[in-house]
Amino acid sequence: DGKRIVTLIPGDGIGPEISKSVVEIFKAQGVPVVWETVDVYPILKDGKTTIPEDSLLSINKNKVALKGPLATPIGKGHVSMNLTLRRTFDLFANVRPCKSIVGYKTPFDDVDTVLIRENTEGEYSGIEHVVVDGVVQSIKLITEEASRRCATYAFEYARAIGRGKVTVVHKANIQKLSDGLFLSVAEEVAKDYPDIKLDEMLLDRVCLQIVQDPTKGWNNTVMVMPNLYGDILSDLCAGLIGGLGLTPSGNIGQKASIFESVHGTAPDIAGKDLANPTALLLSAVMMLRHIKMDEHADTIQKAVLKTIAEGKARTGDLGGKATNSAFTKEVIANLSK
Ligand code: IPM
Ligand code: MN
Repeated sequence: DGKRIVTLIPGDGIGPEISKSVVEIFKAQGVPVVWETVDVYPILKDGKTTIPEDSLLSINKNKVALKGPLATPIGKGHVSMNLTLRRTFDLFANVRPCKSIVGYKTPFDDVDTVLIRENTEGEYSGIEHVVVDGVVQSIKLITEEASRRCATYAFEYARAIGRGKVTVVHKANIQKLSDGLFLSVAEEVAKDYPDIKLDEMLLDRVCLQIVQDPTKGWNNTVMVMPNLYGDILSDLCAGLIGGLGLTPSGNIGQKASIFESVHGTAPDIAGKDLANPTALLLSAVMMLRHIKMDEHADTIQKAVLKTIAEGKARTGDLGGKATNSAFTKEVIANLSK
């Protein structure tokens, strides 16, 4: 019947409230998506952390999921569920666009960067040892294969959104072998994309330049980088436009893709109807484009941005007093405008 089944992982803390907002807005818009709601929490199997069987089956079957925040313990404790999902489904590229929202004032206007983060290895490989008491070793794993598919995705993405340049962000001056490999693979991949320029810059210099003027040179490029750099730099970029409550992301793989808000579970405001659902909504918009429902994506995106720009239903994180429900209601009213 032309309907598309998609897995919904509401998540922890504010996750269920912001997921409800997405579900309501999709319904009001008449998006032909049927949600299959599953829970993700750690299951120990053969000494490894995994996710519940029905969630695994659902994502494998539907190949597309929308996910709210999942709690990640610091230090000891189970492996992060966010990472477990990325590993389990081999979600090799994490796309994090970061675009100023008209009407929401920050020190910068017109920020429009896109960051693509290698999403399966680097310092996130989870290979750590105690060598002797007081000495630990964490392995940063970089492979040619993972670097190549990430770089290829970055070039394809740049072409698809009409950007003329891909900038590799690295520290190959220090991490000569690992970042050196990442960079040289990107240079190789670039040869297949003569229409797109390859640029490279050291991570520290990128940080300096981007906070000095994020519009200067960054709006015509797609940045690509190893995992941990992407984690840190994407938060920095989110800060330029108003925070993690506003930035979407997509974890792209061959077997499945999972779209998620980058922010945490916000336990302090959970259950109080105070959360800003924008990041998850814009992630849902990315998801709609991924499944080629571009018209619905455009309409919902426009309504969300219009609601923030108008300013009468802003949530607390944006300096307003609106509840999540009031914001959601306003977005629904703006769908038809
Ligand atoms: C992110 C998050 C995760 C990461 C955490 C929750 C494991 O910060 O998606 O950026 O470090 O990748
Ligand atoms: Mn992060």
